[in-house]
Amino acid sequence: MSFTRRQILAGLSGLAVLGLGAGGAARYWLGRNEAATTHDYELIAAPLDVELVPGFQTPAWAFGGSAPGQELRVRQGDWLRVRFTNRLPVPTTIHWHGIRLPLEMDGVPYVSQMPVLPGESFIYRFRVPDAGSYWYHPHVASSEQLGRGLVGPLIIEEREPTGFVHERTLSLKNWHVDEQGAFLPFSIPREAARNGTLGRLSTINGVANPTVELPAGQIVRLRLLNLDNTATYRLNLKGAGEARLYALDGNPIEPRPFGKDYWLGPGMRVCLALRVPAAGEEIALRDGPVRLGTFRAVAVDGQTGDWPAPLPPNPVAEPDLASAEKLNFNFEWVGSTAAAGVDAPPSLWQINGVAWDINDKTCADRPIARLERGKSYIFELKNMTQYQHPVHLHGMSFKVIRSNRRKIIPYFTDTFLLGRNERAQVALVADNPGTWMFHCHVIDHMETGLMAAIQVT
Ligand code: C2O
Ligand code: CU
Ligand code: CU
Repeated sequence: MSFTRRQILAGLSGLAVLGLGAGGAARYWLGRNEAATTHDYELIAAPLDVELVPGFQTPAWAFGGSAPGQELRVRQGDWLRVRFTNRLPVPTTIHWHGIRLPLEMDGVPYVSQMPVLPGESFIYRFRVPDAGSYWYHPHVASSEQLGRGLVGPLIIEEREPTGFVHERTLSLKNWHVDEQGAFLPFSIPREAARNGTLGRLSTINGVANPTVELPAGQIVRLRLLNLDNTATYRLNLKGAGEARLYALDGNPIEPRPFGKDYWLGPGMRVCLALRVPAAGEEIALRDGPVRLGTFRAVAVDGQTGDWPAPLPPNPVAEPDLASAEKLNFNFEWVGSTAAAGVDAPPSLWQINGVAWDINDKTCADRPIARLERGKSYIFELKNMTQYQHPVHLHGMSFKVIRSNRRKIIPYFTDTFLLGRNERAQVALVADNPGTWMFHCHVIDHMETGLMAAIQVT
């Protein structure tokens, strides 16, 4: 599918009636209303200086006046409308990670829409079928755009109130900045050929090593989102308090103890219930042995709550494993850092022998798999490399069913962290027509080959 600028502009003017004047930050157009079934935001992407390193400015790019971006909230089953305006010096788009939506709203340049040019607007409008923690980010020049801060949480509230009274959104991001807050390269070929180019400053909601106050004795829903380009966090909690896992990547699971370490790859999310200890106590949120932030319990009035009931399942179609067709996807390392052309990125990775060329607008015209709408499929994911890859699919959720490396309790997700040399099976019903990106969410792996298109017709 291809678009002309003319079609895109014509499409926009029809909707221009929704427009309001420019504003600094994202906000509801009409204010919040309990009965509302649409949630309307005006969202602007623009340069913004932020203080990540005390005493220094970092020239970030921000959605809605903050980096990470403004938190958008919608109720499950309702419409989200975002009038997006690009005030950056470069073209961009917004992709809604994990949301099952029509292709035209998916934010992939030249597949879903033309890039939104500087000064232009685009209206994203879709219904959100699933509750949970999701996020949004551009799908153009991703190393730089996500690296500079264009990432934001998208929270879909359950239709009915859950047993949770308190919640916090914690967006993790590791910035590519030096000691003076200046940006370092977002992607270095030598690193892209390995684990990906890591940032140097870990933050939670844009703050390095913050202290987050939580109500003592209460149960708090913690939404932990990995919005980083590269880092896989080995999340663990140290200190008093007890935590249970309630949802993985947006989708509810049967609650279970948080356990020792949870590996949260780029793009992944986890929803925890934390029983906050007595006032004055602290809990460290850590990445392996490294502290990312501190929870401090502060006294509040109110009864100590009990563990909430499991969250209601999302309406994702159950794949029929007996009739499912098997497809193999091999993730391979090519390992030549020689660039294909002068300005072309090197081609380092392949799926089934094909490397995606991030600068070639026609790659999506050559999908590596064609699925029949309504049929069930099992994808056999085979990692033939020494590096882990958070494998992500647009447009549909899939069920993780098996791995040769660990015990899997089957669950639905949009991103699966495929370990080194791991072989895993995921299954889905191909119920959303379109051409969907299927890629590693380590951004510089994606930009050096580890992406493909899967077509559903
Ligand atoms: Cu967060 Cu192509 O995705
Ligand atoms: Cu996505
Ligand atoms: Cu990867």
